[in-house]
Amino acid sequence: MRKKIILSFTLFVFTFYCCAQKKSLAEPEQWLKKTNEVIHYQLIKAAEIYKPGFNPRSVNPDGTVRLAPLPDWTAGFFPGSLWYGYEISGDKKLEEQAQRFTLSLDSARYITNTHDLGFLLFCSYGNAYRITGDKQYLPVLADGAKNLFARFNPKVGVIRSWDFGDWHYPVIIDNMINLEYLYWAAKAFNRPLYTNAASTHAMTTLKNHFRKDYSSYHLVDYDPATGKVLKKMTHQGLSDESSWARGQAWGLYGYTMCYQNTKNPKFIEQAEHIASFIMNNPHMPKDKIPAWDFDVHNALETDLPAIKDASAAAVMASALLELSTQVKDGQKYFDYAASILKTLSSDEYLAKPGENHFFILKHSVGAFLYDSEINTPLDYADYYYLEAIKRYMEIKHVNLKKG
Ligand code: GLY
Repeated sequence: MRKKIILSFTLFVFTFYCCAQKKSLAEPEQWLKKTNEVIHYQLIKAAEIYKPGFNPRSVNPDGTVRLAPLPDWTAGFFPGSLWYGYEISGDKKLEEQAQRFTLSLDSARYITNTHDLGFLLFCSYGNAYRITGDKQYLPVLADGAKNLFARFNPKVGVIRSWDFGDWHYPVIIDNMINLEYLYWAAKAFNRPLYTNAASTHAMTTLKNHFRKDYSSYHLVDYDPATGKVLKKMTHQGLSDESSWARGQAWGLYGYTMCYQNTKNPKFIEQAEHIASFIMNNPHMPKDKIPAWDFDVHNALETDLPAIKDASAAAVMASALLELSTQVKDGQKYFDYAASILKTLSSDEYLAKPGENHFFILKHSVGAFLYDSEINTPLDYADYYYLEAIKRYMEIKHVNLKKG
């Protein structure tokens, strides 16, 4: 009799626990369900059609697809999107494809002439290792991190971005994103100097890249011998003094991530200031998808069109969701990001299944003034959109895994 009572009680507790667990998962909103169907369809098809190592990057004006063989800085985004697609859906087919496309980037471990190693390897191999825990991904990650760290000059206090061009020691705001790879590698491979380099880069950038209103220059050129700032300018923005939209997004993402890794209050203060610049910007359109440069509206002489850049919006959404989890009063960041995501998930920006060359988002801008990738899908718009969708679902406790 006693045994029976204990057994029934255990059964009751177990059933209650399972129900409570089920209840704590939120019902997905309609837009999120539809979005996830599109994401899954496009990724499965894209992985069938494109060849590993020749990953889809954008669409050329003649309607052909621009591919991203190494050393293209964007080569890691498509494998990264496949990993996020797998993480969101739990579909093993996507895992297989993610692995196939990731392993095709093996030789990126030997690249030494750019800071883009984080974009290339952390989005692909980094996600692969994070999600699977498979140690086969580690040697490539170790080599890439070593090469990225080797680009840090302690005299200047920053990682050099590019080796091409006429600059002396160019550093672009985009470089902030690659610090995440160094923070991770410092722990994974027991290299405390990597943490030091990443945080020093972030502090030097904080000092030199930002204006009083917390908008940022795209490029700062340094004297490599002394660390003196030689020039502050743009490369992809409207003008040296303008606020290139994706650059503002990279900065926001970078400082949020630096805080998440270090808990240094200076980094979260900076992230909140950048967020405020973006969210309160008088030139941010109502739908919260910025034009390629916030100052394109002020272009008096040029009359340039304010074409929207979904990639900047996707990076902003992902960063704001992360920021919302790092501060006490994060609801305003969450709400703003949710609003961006709902716009990006509308027919205006989200592809219909089978269209858009199997990219997920439409309407991004690569480099307007170089007449390059204007109003096109972009592999990094898709990557950060997927990351943002994943973050949104985690915060809202939504699970759309099959089975
Ligand atoms: N990192 C280059 C770009 O954002 O266009």
